Amino acid sequence: MKEVRILDKDFELFIDADTIQKSIKRLAIDVNKDLEGKDPIFIAILNGSFMFAADLMKHVTIPCEITFVRIASYKGMNSTNEVREVLGLKESIKDRTIVIVEDIVDTGNTIEALIKQFEMQGPKEIKIATLLFKPKALVRDIKPDYVAIEIPNDFIVGFGLDYDGFGRNLQDIYKIKL
Ligand code: IMP
Ligand code: MG
Repeated sequence: MKEVRILDKDFELFIDADTIQKSIKRLAIDVNKDLEGKDPIFIAILNGSFMFAADLMKHVTIPCEITFVRIASYKGMNSTNEVREVLGLKESIKDRTIVIVEDIVDTGNTIEALIKQFEMQGPKEIKIATLLFKPKALVRDIKPDYVAIEIPNDFIVGFGLDYDGFGRNLQDIYKIKL
């Protein structure tokens, strides 16, 4: 399938399923090496990271836990300041090595907000693993520790990422046709 139409937009094949899987395996090898003996807790951010998290965990061989959270975003008093709150974390992360599992780091605003929220709970260290990274879009002073694939600044869908809720089920990644 070289092209897909999602709602009102056309997308073309950008990263095939095989490439995605190989990149995730590579990332897992780094994680296994770096976090050996640390018994990390992976915290996957729903909805976007569900496929990445599942495939990543199949290749993580060190003792670890995984849990899933959701972010509630709402506009703060100041309309440009979006407030992001983490929902659903039942486990204690105090003194733990945590790995935030994200689908994509774009501007970095979401990751920055997540780090602030998790820091309040006193983890030993916070690592960031992301399937995709758009370095040119980054406006925050953060750097993901583990990146499966770096991409240019195009809008993409598939493998968990959506356009208006649709397209998450695609096993390849597609980019918008301009
Ligand atoms: P950030 O806060 O700008 O780093 O981006 C956060 C969120 O925006 C991601 O977790 C995605 O849900 C969404 N996002 C960013 N870029 C894309 C894209 O190209 N396609 C689909 N969703 C995206
Ligand atoms: Mg997301």
